[in-house]
Amino acid sequence: MKTAESLREGLRQLPIRPVYLISTADQERSNIITIGMFAFFSGNPSLVGIGVKPSRYSYDLIRNSGEYVVNVVNERLMSAVRTCGENSGRDFDKFKKAQLTPVKGDKVSAPYIKESPMSIECKVVQTMETGDHVWFIGEVQTVHKDEAYDWTQGLLFKWIKDQGFYFKVGERMGAY
Ligand SMILES: Cc1cc2nc3c(=O)[nH]c(=O)nc-3n(C[C@H](O)[C@H](O)[C@H](O)COP(=O)(O)O)c2cc1C
Repeated sequence: MKTAESLREGLRQLPIRPVYLISTADQERSNIITIGMFAFFSGNPSLVGIGVKPSRYSYDLIRNSGEYVVNVVNERLMSAVRTCGENSGRDFDKFKKAQLTPVKGDKVSAPYIKESPMSIECKVVQTMETGDHVWFIGEVQTVHKDEAYDWTQGLLFKWIKDQGFYFKVGERMGAY
């Protein structure tokens, strides 16, 4: 039997989702933010999107530059995911603090993260104000991938009661 659940608790029961590091830059500054709000918006053209709160330091950088890079994370980047998700770039340089190396993008000025196994350069083609987050829809420009990359390395994030936890990808179930 289903019972009524508060909206907040109910939505926190949704299945687990991946987490990414988004690197950004404008004329003067660069930054990295941990993001759970990521979605595919179109196959052709290739559009993805990230939801960013306007209060984030990263928000202005994406607004100003119209660019961002989605960096896939793995176990080795666990502590960087925490550093970039629990601190603001207003307080320090997150590339230095998280010991990550910025590499100039091929098609965008925003740097990608050398230590990430896969990085996706995006140019913002649409901005949607959806509530407390703004969705930056980005057209994929290029994808950089390590030869040894395997998608099962990606990290997942889940709220359980009032605490957030990171997970690795689990078992395969069935076939299409
Ligand atoms: C697992 C995780 C997922 C997050 N997802 C988002 C998100 O989707 N959108 C967002 O605006 N902030 C998200 N945050 C919060 C930002 O990462 C955090 O506020 C960060 O300190 C902002 O950095 P900035 O001020 O340098 O941009 C998330 C944090 C964590 C730990």
